[in-house]
Amino acid sequence: MIEFQNKLEKNSQEIDSFLESYLPSGNGLNSKLFEAMRYSSISGGKKIRAYLVMESGRFICAINNKTLSKSKYNELIAVGSAIEAIHSYSLIHDDLPAMDNSPFRRGKESNHVKFNDHTAILAGDGLLSWAFQIIGDRNFITNSVKRSEICFVLAKAIGPNGMVGGQQADMDFAKHKSIDLDKIEWIQNHKTGALISCCSHVASILLNASEDQKSNLINYANHIGLAFQIADDLLDFEGNEVSMGKPIRQDAKNEIPNFVTILGKEKALERALVSSRKAINFIQNFKQESENLVSLAKYTVNRNK
Ligand code: IPE
Ligand code: IPE
Ligand code: MG
Ligand code: MG
Ligand code: MG
Repeated sequence: MIEFQNKLEKNSQEIDSFLESYLPSGNGLNSKLFEAMRYSSISGGKKIRAYLVMESGRFICAINNKTLSKSKYNELIAVGSAIEAIHSYSLIHDDLPAMDNSPFRRGKESNHVKFNDHTAILAGDGLLSWAFQIIGDRNFITNSVKRSEICFVLAKAIGPNGMVGGQQADMDFAKHKSIDLDKIEWIQNHKTGALISCCSHVASILLNASEDQKSNLINYANHIGLAFQIADDLLDFEGNEVSMGKPIRQDAKNEIPNFVTILGKEKALERALVSSRKAINFIQNFKQESENLVSLAKYTVNRNK
């Protein structure tokens, strides 16, 4: 576990260094926007989505007996960083008073508390657009077909039939006491699972995975996504605010139904473990090559932040 956390930490530093170099900065009239975009995306968060992009890429190379070239590595870093920018945007908006109204995130004030509501909205918009600018830039991804395929897959994953759709339903079902498990699962798969599964999908595109390899990796990531959100719900219920860097009991405060409120914590944990084991089943034919992805599946459920 410690060894895995070190790998995760090293990955965070690599992603932070990309964000540091390429996110806009400067002293123009929009400098406050740049500051707010950087504040919420650099040096914060576990960066597990970028880790999944990188490790899916490494896995595809390894099972095809190829070494990961420096240029492919750089492409994975660019796409992983763009996805983390999108994830940061989703968290800035999620914390707004009109949504979860959450005052701190990643161990510091939420974006709208540090700046103000309009800056937080615009910083989110800025991170989202910047991410597509990076993916569309031939300096980062050389192959134009891959650039457009990744844009398509990513836009679909985070749009009205993906992450944003899930967030809409999550908010709309607040205060609904009786909601069945299928609906909760739909919401979690959309608000969180869609972006996580997209990480393995985009790596499959970049590394020319076969259809079979791509579908196994996406199935793996789909199960990780669900396990990850159930673990988040468990942490919200009884986690440690200091290690998590965000307030607990936000779902109770906002009366957001989730796996824990519907199933209770033991059954919710069991459900997360089942999902994590199912994820591992999709990659375990490749014992050696899948080591980091297996560790990620386990960490997804056994984390304290
Ligand atoms: C939190 O995501 C919100 C969810 C979608 C569950 P993370 O737990 O990945 O948050 P960071 O990026 O590490 O802060
Ligand atoms: C957030 O889910 C999901 C997205 C931002 C897409 P939560 O509202 O459960 O995330 P936390 O608990 O605030 O991190
Ligand atoms: Mg929320
Ligand atoms: Mg929230
Ligand atoms: Mg939560």
